[in-house]
Amino acid sequence: MTDQPRKLFIKTYGCQMNVYDSERMAEALGGQGYEQTQDVSEADMVLFNTCHIREKAAEKLYSDLGRLKGQKAMNPDLKIGVTGCVAQAEGEEIVRRMPMVDLVVGPQSYHRLPQMEQAVRAGGRAIDTEFPEDDKFETLRSRPRMARGPTAFLTVQEGCDKFCAFCVVPYTRGAEVSRPAERIETEARGLVEAGVREITLLGQNVNAYHGGEGGLAGLISRLARIDGLDRIRYTTSHPNDMDEALIAAHGEEPKLMPYLHLPVQSGSDRILKAMNRKHTAESYLRLIERIRAARPDILMTSDFIVGFPGETEDDFQATLDLVAEVGYGAAYSFKYSARPGTPAAERETVPVDVMDDRLQRLQALLSAQQTAAQEAMVGQVTTVLFEKPGRRPGQWGGKSEHLHAVHVTAADDLRGQIRRVRITEAAPHSLGGELIGS
Ligand code: 5AD
Ligand code: SF4
Repeated sequence: MTDQPRKLFIKTYGCQMNVYDSERMAEALGGQGYEQTQDVSEADMVLFNTCHIREKAAEKLYSDLGRLKGQKAMNPDLKIGVTGCVAQAEGEEIVRRMPMVDLVVGPQSYHRLPQMEQAVRAGGRAIDTEFPEDDKFETLRSRPRMARGPTAFLTVQEGCDKFCAFCVVPYTRGAEVSRPAERIETEARGLVEAGVREITLLGQNVNAYHGGEGGLAGLISRLARIDGLDRIRYTTSHPNDMDEALIAAHGEEPKLMPYLHLPVQSGSDRILKAMNRKHTAESYLRLIERIRAARPDILMTSDFIVGFPGETEDDFQATLDLVAEVGYGAAYSFKYSARPGTPAAERETVPVDVMDDRLQRLQALLSAQQTAAQEAMVGQVTTVLFEKPGRRPGQWGGKSEHLHAVHVTAADDLRGQIRRVRITEAAPHSLGGELIGS
Protein backbone atom coordinates (compact mmCIF):
# COMPACT_ATOMS: atom_id res chain seq x y z
CA MET A 1 0.00 0.00 0.00
CA THR A 2 1.28 3.49 -0.79
CA ASP A 3 1.47 6.26 1.84
CA GLN A 4 -0.74 8.54 -0.24
CA PRO A 5 -4.37 7.45 -0.13
CA ARG A 6 -5.51 6.03 -3.43
CA LYS A 7 -8.45 7.74 -5.05
CA LEU A 8 -11.74 6.01 -5.70
CA PHE A 9 -14.38 7.38 -8.06
CA ILE A 10 -17.81 5.74 -8.01
CA LYS A 11 -20.57 6.47 -10.49
CA THR A 12 -23.96 5.27 -9.29
CA TYR A 13 -26.83 4.49 -11.66
CA GLY A 14 -30.40 3.52 -10.87
CA CYS A 15 -32.20 3.13 -7.59
CA GLN A 16 -31.63 4.25 -4.00
CA MET A 17 -30.35 0.82 -3.07
CA ASN A 18 -27.46 1.39 -5.44
CA VAL A 19 -26.77 4.69 -3.66
CA TYR A 20 -26.60 2.78 -0.36
CA ASP A 21 -24.44 0.02 -1.89
CA SER A 22 -22.01 2.59 -3.32
CA GLU A 23 -21.53 4.05 0.17
CA ARG A 24 -20.83 0.60 1.59
CA MET A 25 -18.39 -0.19 -1.23
CA ALA A 26 -16.50 3.03 -0.60
CA GLU A 27 -16.34 2.12 3.09
CA ALA A 28 -15.10 -1.41 2.27
CA LEU A 29 -12.33 0.00 0.08
CA GLY A 30 -11.56 2.63 2.73
CA GLY A 31 -9.90 -0.23 4.60
CA GLN A 32 -7.60 -0.68 1.58
CA GLY A 33 -6.45 2.93 1.82
CA TYR A 34 -8.90 4.43 -0.69
CA GLU A 35 -10.42 7.87 -0.38
CA GLN A 36 -13.38 8.93 -2.49
CA THR A 37 -12.98 11.63 -5.14
CA GLN A 38 -15.54 13.47 -7.25
CA ASP A 39 -12.96 13.98 -10.00
CA VAL A 40 -12.67 10.95 -12.25
CA SER A 41 -9.43 12.21 -13.85
CA GLU A 42 -7.48 11.75 -10.59
CA ALA A 43 -8.90 8.29 -9.82
CA ASP A 44 -6.80 5.18 -9.23
CA MET A 45 -9.94 3.09 -9.31
CA VAL A 46 -13.26 3.77 -11.02
CA LEU A 47 -16.35 1.74 -10.12
CA PHE A 48 -19.55 1.85 -12.14
CA ASN A 49 -22.39 0.71 -9.88
CA THR A 50 -24.92 -0.19 -12.51
CA CYS A 51 -28.64 -0.67 -13.11
CA HIS A 52 -30.19 -3.29 -15.40
CA ILE A 53 -33.87 -2.44 -15.00
CA ARG A 54 -34.34 -1.00 -18.50
CA GLU A 55 -32.20 -1.32 -21.63
CA LYS A 56 -31.30 2.38 -21.64
CA ALA A 57 -29.89 2.20 -18.12
CA ALA A 58 -27.74 -0.82 -19.02
CA GLU A 59 -26.43 0.67 -22.27
CA LYS A 60 -25.30 3.80 -20.47
CA LEU A 61 -22.56 1.72 -18.82
CA TYR A 62 -20.97 0.91 -22.14
CA SER A 63 -20.92 4.49 -23.35
CA ASP A 64 -19.41 5.62 -20.03
CA LEU A 65 -16.79 2.87 -20.20
CA GLY A 66 -15.91 3.92 -23.75
CA ARG A 67 -15.23 7.44 -22.48
CA LEU A 68 -12.62 6.11 -20.04
CA LYS A 69 -10.55 4.38 -22.74
CA GLY A 70 -8.20 7.34 -23.21
CA GLN A 71 -7.57 7.71 -19.47
CA LYS A 72 -6.81 4.01 -19.12
CA ALA A 73 -4.41 4.16 -22.09
CA MET A 74 -2.53 7.05 -20.42
CA ASN A 75 -2.56 5.40 -17.02
CA PRO A 76 -2.40 1.60 -17.13
CA ASP A 77 -2.49 1.54 -13.28
CA LEU A 78 -6.06 2.82 -13.38
CA LYS A 79 -8.32 -0.04 -12.34
CA ILE A 80 -11.88 -0.19 -13.63
CA GLY A 81 -14.68 -2.15 -12.03
CA VAL A 82 -18.32 -2.82 -12.86
CA THR A 83 -20.60 -3.54 -9.91
CA GLY A 84 -24.36 -3.78 -9.41
CA CYS A 85 -27.07 -5.35 -11.53
CA VAL A 86 -25.46 -5.20 -15.00
CA ALA A 87 -22.45 -6.95 -13.45
CA GLN A 88 -24.77 -9.63 -12.08
CA ALA A 89 -26.69 -10.07 -15.33
CA GLU A 90 -23.83 -9.94 -17.81
CA GLY A 91 -20.79 -11.11 -15.81
CA GLU A 92 -17.89 -12.12 -18.05
CA GLU A 93 -19.69 -10.78 -21.11
CA ILE A 94 -18.74 -7.29 -19.90
CA VAL A 95 -15.06 -8.14 -20.02
CA ARG A 96 -15.43 -9.72 -23.47
CA ARG A 97 -17.08 -6.56 -24.75
CA MET A 98 -14.80 -4.18 -22.81
CA PRO A 99 -11.41 -5.82 -22.08
CA MET A 100 -10.35 -2.66 -20.17
CA VAL A 101 -12.56 -3.80 -17.25
CA ASP A 102 -10.51 -5.35 -14.43
CA LEU A 103 -13.20 -6.26 -11.95
CA VAL A 104 -16.83 -7.36 -12.11
CA VAL A 105 -18.82 -7.92 -8.92
CA GLY A 106 -22.53 -8.51 -8.40
CA PRO A 107 -24.67 -6.83 -5.72
CA GLN A 108 -24.53 -9.80 -3.34
CA SER A 109 -20.73 -10.20 -3.39
CA TYR A 110 -19.29 -6.74 -2.94
CA HIS A 111 -18.08 -7.53 0.57
CA ARG A 112 -15.32 -9.34 -1.32
CA LEU A 113 -14.13 -6.09 -2.93
CA PRO A 114 -11.03 -5.78 -0.71
CA GLN A 115 -9.66 -9.17 -1.83
CA MET A 116 -10.70 -8.49 -5.40
CA GLU A 117 -8.92 -5.14 -5.32
CA GLN A 118 -5.72 -6.87 -4.19
CA ALA A 119 -6.02 -9.36 -7.04
CA VAL A 120 -6.40 -6.64 -9.65
CA ARG A 121 -3.56 -4.58 -8.14
CA ALA A 122 -1.39 -7.69 -8.55
CA GLY A 123 -2.21 -7.56 -12.26
CA GLY A 124 -5.06 -10.05 -12.37
CA ARG A 125 -8.71 -9.80 -13.17
CA ALA A 126 -11.47 -10.51 -10.64
CA ILE A 127 -15.00 -11.60 -11.48
CA ASP A 128 -17.57 -12.59 -8.86
CA THR A 129 -21.24 -12.89 -9.67
CA GLU A 130 -22.09 -15.68 -7.25
CA PHE A 131 -25.01 -15.55 -4.85
CA PRO A 132 -22.68 -16.42 -1.96
CA GLU A 133 -23.53 -18.38 1.17
CA ASP A 134 -21.95 -15.75 3.41
CA ASP A 135 -23.98 -12.64 4.05
CA LYS A 136 -22.31 -9.47 2.81
CA PHE A 137 -23.72 -7.38 5.65
CA GLU A 138 -22.11 -9.67 8.22
CA THR A 139 -18.74 -9.56 6.48
CA LEU A 140 -18.60 -5.84 5.77
CA ARG A 141 -16.79 -3.77 8.38
CA SER A 142 -19.07 -1.92 10.73
CA ARG A 143 -19.75 1.49 9.30
CA PRO A 144 -17.11 4.17 10.02
CA ARG A 145 -18.11 6.91 12.45
CA MET A 146 -17.92 9.89 10.16
CA ALA A 147 -20.14 12.96 10.26
CA ARG A 148 -23.09 12.65 7.89
CA GLY A 149 -25.84 14.74 6.44
CA PRO A 150 -29.24 14.58 8.16
CA THR A 151 -30.78 11.92 5.87
CA ALA A 152 -29.64 8.39 5.09
CA PHE A 153 -30.72 5.22 3.34
CA LEU A 154 -30.60 1.88 5.13
CA THR A 155 -31.11 -1.41 3.29
CA VAL A 156 -33.27 -3.79 5.34
CA GLN A 157 -34.39 -6.26 2.69
CA GLU A 158 -33.11 -7.28 -0.71
CA GLY A 159 -34.31 -9.32 -3.63
CA CYS A 160 -37.75 -10.26 -4.81
CA ASP A 161 -39.84 -13.42 -5.16
CA LYS A 162 -42.70 -11.80 -7.04
CA PHE A 163 -41.48 -12.39 -10.61
CA CYS A 164 -43.44 -9.70 -12.38
CA ALA A 165 -43.19 -10.74 -16.04
CA PHE A 166 -41.21 -7.64 -17.12
CA CYS A 167 -38.72 -7.38 -14.28
CA VAL A 168 -35.07 -8.45 -13.96
CA VAL A 169 -34.84 -7.84 -10.21
CA PRO A 170 -35.56 -11.44 -9.11
CA TYR A 171 -32.66 -12.52 -11.36
CA THR A 172 -30.15 -9.76 -10.56
CA ARG A 173 -30.83 -9.28 -6.85
CA GLY A 174 -31.95 -12.84 -6.15
CA ALA A 175 -34.51 -14.19 -3.70
CA GLU A 176 -36.04 -12.09 -0.93
CA VAL A 177 -33.74 -11.82 2.10
CA SER A 178 -34.36 -9.71 5.23
CA ARG A 179 -31.62 -8.47 7.56
CA PRO A 180 -32.08 -9.21 11.27
CA ALA A 181 -33.88 -6.38 13.08
CA GLU A 182 -31.20 -6.03 15.78
CA ARG A 183 -28.48 -5.45 13.16
CA ILE A 184 -30.62 -2.84 11.47
CA GLU A 185 -31.21 -1.12 14.81
CA THR A 186 -27.45 -1.06 15.49
CA GLU A 187 -26.79 0.47 12.09
CA ALA A 188 -29.59 3.01 12.58
CA ARG A 189 -28.22 4.03 16.00
CA GLY A 190 -24.78 4.54 14.43
CA LEU A 191 -26.28 6.74 11.73
CA VAL A 192 -28.15 8.81 14.30
CA GLU A 193 -24.97 9.29 16.36
CA ALA A 194 -23.34 10.55 13.16
CA GLY A 195 -26.01 13.24 12.71
CA VAL A 196 -28.77 11.48 10.78
CA ARG A 197 -32.37 12.45 11.70
CA GLU A 198 -34.29 10.79 8.87
CA ILE A 199 -33.81 7.22 7.63
CA THR A 200 -35.38 5.70 4.53
CA LEU A 201 -35.60 1.93 4.87
CA LEU A 202 -34.83 0.29 1.56
CA GLY A 203 -35.80 -2.98 -0.05
CA GLN A 204 -36.89 -4.11 -3.51
CA ASN A 205 -39.92 -5.43 -1.68
CA VAL A 206 -39.46 -3.61 1.59
CA ASN A 207 -42.91 -4.29 2.99
CA ALA A 208 -42.28 -8.04 2.67
CA TYR A 209 -39.62 -7.53 5.39
CA HIS A 210 -39.61 -10.44 7.82
CA GLY A 211 -36.33 -10.09 9.72
CA GLY A 212 -37.98 -9.49 13.09
CA GLU A 213 -41.22 -9.65 14.99
CA GLY A 214 -44.14 -7.84 13.39
CA GLY A 215 -42.63 -7.49 9.92
CA LEU A 216 -41.96 -3.99 8.61
CA ALA A 217 -44.45 -2.38 11.02
CA GLY A 218 -42.59 -4.04 13.91
CA LEU A 219 -39.25 -2.77 12.60
CA ILE A 220 -40.60 0.76 12.20
CA SER A 221 -41.90 0.88 15.77
CA ARG A 222 -38.59 -0.52 17.03
CA LEU A 223 -36.62 2.16 15.17
CA ALA A 224 -39.09 4.87 16.20
CA ARG A 225 -37.91 4.35 19.80
CA ILE A 226 -34.42 5.63 18.92
CA ASP A 227 -33.98 9.11 20.40
CA GLY A 228 -32.74 11.55 17.79
CA LEU A 229 -34.27 9.64 14.90
CA ASP A 230 -37.18 11.86 13.97
CA ARG A 231 -38.39 10.64 10.62
CA ILE A 232 -38.81 7.23 9.01
CA ARG A 233 -39.72 6.38 5.42
CA TYR A 234 -39.64 3.14 3.44
CA THR A 235 -39.52 2.15 -0.21
CA THR A 236 -40.40 0.24 -2.46
CA SER A 237 -43.56 -1.64 -1.59
CA HIS A 238 -45.76 -4.17 -3.37
CA PRO A 239 -49.53 -3.71 -2.90
CA ASN A 240 -50.00 -7.34 -1.81
CA ASP A 241 -47.60 -6.91 1.14
CA MET A 242 -49.35 -3.90 2.70
CA ASP A 243 -50.60 -5.68 5.82
CA GLU A 244 -53.00 -4.32 8.46
CA ALA A 245 -50.22 -3.49 10.91
CA LEU A 246 -48.31 -1.44 8.35
CA ILE A 247 -51.42 0.45 7.28
CA ALA A 248 -52.23 1.12 10.95
CA ALA A 249 -48.67 2.36 11.55
CA HIS A 250 -49.35 5.20 9.12
CA GLY A 251 -52.06 6.41 11.47
CA GLU A 252 -50.33 5.63 14.76
CA GLU A 253 -46.59 6.24 14.42
CA PRO A 254 -45.87 9.98 14.28
CA LYS A 255 -42.29 9.41 13.07
CA LEU A 256 -43.54 7.56 9.99
CA MET A 257 -43.85 10.21 7.29
CA PRO A 258 -47.11 10.63 5.30
CA TYR A 259 -45.67 9.45 2.00
CA LEU A 260 -46.02 6.10 0.27
CA HIS A 261 -44.57 4.85 -3.00
CA LEU A 262 -46.86 2.06 -4.12
CA PRO A 263 -46.24 0.99 -7.71
CA VAL A 264 -49.28 -0.27 -9.62
CA GLN A 265 -47.74 -0.44 -13.15
CA SER A 266 -51.10 -0.53 -14.99
CA GLY A 267 -54.80 0.11 -14.42
CA SER A 268 -55.97 -2.73 -16.67
CA ASP A 269 -56.78 -6.07 -15.05
CA ARG A 270 -55.93 -7.88 -18.29
CA ILE A 271 -52.45 -6.31 -18.34
CA LEU A 272 -51.96 -6.71 -14.57
CA LYS A 273 -52.63 -10.42 -15.05
CA ALA A 274 -50.23 -10.63 -18.01
CA MET A 275 -47.66 -8.82 -15.84
CA ASN A 276 -48.15 -11.44 -13.10
CA ARG A 277 -48.84 -8.66 -10.58
CA LYS A 278 -51.36 -10.78 -8.64
CA HIS A 279 -53.64 -7.85 -7.83
CA THR A 280 -56.37 -6.01 -9.69
CA ALA A 281 -57.00 -2.33 -10.25
CA GLU A 282 -59.98 -2.56 -7.89
CA SER A 283 -58.02 -4.24 -5.08
CA TYR A 284 -55.34 -1.54 -5.43
CA LEU A 285 -57.93 1.23 -5.21
CA ARG A 286 -59.55 -0.34 -2.12
CA LEU A 287 -56.11 -0.65 -0.53
CA ILE A 288 -55.48 3.06 -1.05
CA GLU A 289 -58.84 3.80 0.56
CA ARG A 290 -57.74 1.88 3.65
CA ILE A 291 -54.37 3.62 3.75
CA ARG A 292 -56.07 7.01 3.43
CA ALA A 293 -58.50 6.09 6.16
CA ALA A 294 -55.49 5.57 8.45
CA ARG A 295 -53.64 8.69 7.29
CA PRO A 296 -55.88 11.05 5.29
CA ASP A 297 -53.11 13.42 4.16
CA ILE A 298 -50.76 10.70 2.89
CA LEU A 299 -49.09 11.55 -0.42
CA MET A 300 -49.24 8.62 -2.82
CA THR A 301 -46.70 7.98 -5.60
CA SER A 302 -46.39 5.14 -8.07
CA ASP A 303 -44.61 3.57 -11.04
CA PHE A 304 -46.24 2.89 -14.41
CA ILE A 305 -45.21 0.97 -17.49
CA VAL A 306 -46.83 1.89 -20.79
CA GLY A 307 -46.81 -0.37 -23.84
CA PHE A 308 -46.48 -3.67 -22.03
CA PRO A 309 -46.87 -6.43 -24.69
CA GLY A 310 -50.53 -6.72 -25.66
CA GLU A 311 -51.59 -3.35 -24.17
CA THR A 312 -54.52 -1.93 -26.18
CA GLU A 313 -55.88 1.61 -26.17
CA ASP A 314 -58.64 0.41 -23.82
CA ASP A 315 -56.06 -1.04 -21.42
CA PHE A 316 -54.17 2.24 -21.49
CA GLN A 317 -57.38 4.17 -20.89
CA ALA A 318 -57.91 2.03 -17.78
CA THR A 319 -54.50 3.23 -16.53
CA LEU A 320 -55.50 6.86 -17.09
CA ASP A 321 -58.79 6.18 -15.25
CA LEU A 322 -56.97 4.67 -12.29
CA VAL A 323 -54.59 7.65 -12.11
CA ALA A 324 -57.56 10.03 -12.21
CA GLU A 325 -59.23 8.13 -9.38
CA VAL A 326 -56.18 7.95 -7.09
CA GLY A 327 -54.73 11.43 -7.53
CA TYR A 328 -50.96 11.01 -7.15
CA GLY A 329 -48.55 13.50 -5.63
CA ALA A 330 -45.81 12.33 -8.01
CA ALA A 331 -45.07 9.28 -10.15
CA TYR A 332 -42.56 7.66 -12.45
CA SER A 333 -43.66 6.33 -15.82
CA PHE A 334 -41.66 4.29 -18.29
CA LYS A 335 -41.96 2.78 -21.72
CA TYR A 336 -41.83 -0.98 -21.54
CA SER A 337 -38.33 -2.29 -22.19
CA ALA A 338 -37.86 -5.99 -23.00
CA ARG A 339 -35.30 -7.46 -20.63
CA PRO A 340 -33.44 -10.63 -21.59
CA GLY A 341 -34.48 -13.68 -19.57
CA THR A 342 -37.84 -12.30 -18.40
CA PRO A 343 -41.09 -14.00 -19.54
CA ALA A 344 -42.47 -10.83 -21.18
CA ALA A 345 -39.40 -10.52 -23.41
CA GLU A 346 -40.78 -13.40 -25.51
CA ARG A 347 -43.98 -11.51 -26.35
CA GLU A 348 -44.80 -9.25 -29.26
CA THR A 349 -44.16 -5.60 -28.48
CA VAL A 350 -46.35 -2.53 -28.93
CA PRO A 351 -45.05 -0.18 -31.71
CA VAL A 352 -42.67 2.49 -30.41
CA ASP A 353 -44.75 5.43 -31.70
CA VAL A 354 -47.78 4.09 -29.81
CA MET A 355 -45.68 3.79 -26.63
CA ASP A 356 -44.35 7.33 -27.11
CA ASP A 357 -47.84 8.71 -27.50
CA ARG A 358 -49.15 6.89 -24.41
CA LEU A 359 -46.19 7.92 -22.31
CA GLN A 360 -46.77 11.55 -23.24
CA ARG A 361 -50.46 11.40 -22.36
CA LEU A 362 -49.83 9.64 -19.06
CA GLN A 363 -47.06 12.04 -18.10
CA ALA A 364 -49.27 15.04 -18.89
CA LEU A 365 -51.91 13.74 -16.47
CA LEU A 366 -49.37 12.82 -13.77
CA SER A 367 -47.64 16.15 -14.02
CA ALA A 368 -50.96 18.02 -13.70
CA GLN A 369 -51.66 15.99 -10.54
CA GLN A 370 -48.20 16.76 -9.18
CA THR A 371 -48.72 20.48 -9.75
CA ALA A 372 -52.13 20.30 -8.06
CA ALA A 373 -50.61 18.51 -5.04
CA GLN A 374 -47.86 21.13 -4.76
CA GLU A 375 -50.35 24.00 -5.04
CA ALA A 376 -52.56 22.41 -2.39
CA MET A 377 -49.68 22.87 0.06
CA VAL A 378 -49.75 26.67 -0.23
CA GLY A 379 -51.01 28.14 3.04
CA GLN A 380 -50.34 24.94 4.97
CA VAL A 381 -47.91 24.50 7.83
CA THR A 382 -45.54 21.54 7.69
CA THR A 383 -42.19 20.60 9.17
CA VAL A 384 -39.06 20.66 7.03
CA LEU A 385 -35.77 18.87 7.65
CA PHE A 386 -33.16 21.23 6.24
CA GLU A 387 -30.27 19.64 4.38
CA LYS A 388 -28.24 22.25 2.52
CA PRO A 389 -27.96 25.87 1.42
CA GLY A 390 -30.23 26.79 -1.46
CA ARG A 391 -29.19 28.36 -4.74
CA ARG A 392 -29.59 31.96 -3.60
CA PRO A 393 -27.60 33.51 -0.72
CA GLY A 394 -29.35 33.07 2.61
CA GLN A 395 -31.56 30.32 1.22
CA TRP A 396 -31.90 26.89 2.84
CA GLY A 397 -33.38 23.78 1.29
CA GLY A 398 -34.88 20.64 2.76
CA LYS A 399 -37.73 18.17 2.55
CA SER A 400 -41.23 18.43 3.94
CA GLU A 401 -43.07 15.55 5.60
CA HIS A 402 -44.57 14.77 2.17
CA LEU A 403 -41.08 14.81 0.62
CA HIS A 404 -41.64 18.07 -1.22
CA ALA A 405 -38.49 20.10 -1.74
CA VAL A 406 -38.94 23.31 0.31
CA HIS A 407 -36.77 26.41 0.52
CA VAL A 408 -36.85 29.32 2.94
CA THR A 409 -34.70 32.38 3.52
CA ALA A 410 -33.04 32.52 6.94
CA ALA A 411 -30.05 34.17 8.52
CA ASP A 412 -29.13 31.12 10.65
CA ASP A 413 -27.48 27.91 9.55
CA LEU A 414 -30.45 25.54 9.34
CA ARG A 415 -28.59 22.41 8.29
CA GLY A 416 -29.88 19.38 10.19
CA GLN A 417 -32.71 21.30 11.84
CA ILE A 418 -36.38 20.37 11.68
CA ARG A 419 -38.45 23.56 11.62
CA ARG A 420 -42.06 24.51 11.18
CA VAL A 421 -42.66 26.24 7.87
CA ARG A 422 -45.66 27.92 6.32
CA ILE A 423 -45.74 27.23 2.58
CA THR A 424 -46.24 30.46 0.65
CA GLU A 425 -45.63 29.52 -2.99
CA ALA A 426 -45.48 26.54 -5.32
CA ALA A 427 -42.98 26.36 -8.20
CA PRO A 428 -42.89 23.39 -10.60
CA HIS A 429 -40.34 21.39 -8.61
CA SER A 430 -40.21 23.00 -5.20
CA LEU A 431 -42.16 24.95 -2.62
CA GLY A 432 -41.23 28.25 -1.05
CA GLY A 433 -42.06 29.02 2.56
CA GLU A 434 -41.30 30.99 5.71
CA LEU A 435 -40.15 29.78 9.12
CA ILE A 436 -42.70 30.06 11.88
CA GLY A 437 -42.22 29.72 15.64
CA SER A 438 -39.03 28.14 16.92
N1 5AD B 1 -39.53 -1.93 -18.65
C1 5AD B 1 -39.97 -0.72 -18.22
N2 5AD B 1 -40.05 -0.39 -16.92
C2 5AD B 1 -39.68 -1.31 -16.01
N3 5AD B 1 -39.66 -1.29 -14.67
C3 5AD B 1 -39.20 -2.47 -14.22
N4 5AD B 1 -38.92 -3.28 -15.25
C4 5AD B 1 -39.21 -2.59 -16.39
C5 5AD B 1 -39.15 -2.89 -17.77
N5 5AD B 1 -38.74 -4.08 -18.21
C6 5AD B 1 -40.14 -0.16 -13.89
C7 5AD B 1 -41.33 -0.55 -13.01
C8 5AD B 1 -40.71 -0.61 -11.64
C9 5AD B 1 -39.64 0.47 -11.74
C10 5AD B 1 -38.57 0.39 -10.73
O1 5AD B 1 -39.10 0.28 -13.03
O2 5AD B 1 -42.31 0.45 -13.10
O3 5AD B 1 -41.64 -0.35 -10.60
FE1 SF4 C 1 -39.67 -6.36 -10.00
FE2 SF4 C 1 -40.98 -5.05 -8.06
FE3 SF4 C 1 -42.23 -6.98 -9.47
FE4 SF4 C 1 -40.30 -7.62 -7.71
S1 SF4 C 1 -42.31 -6.69 -7.25
S2 SF4 C 1 -40.51 -8.45 -9.78
S3 SF4 C 1 -38.87 -5.87 -7.94
S4 SF4 C 1 -41.44 -4.99 -10.25
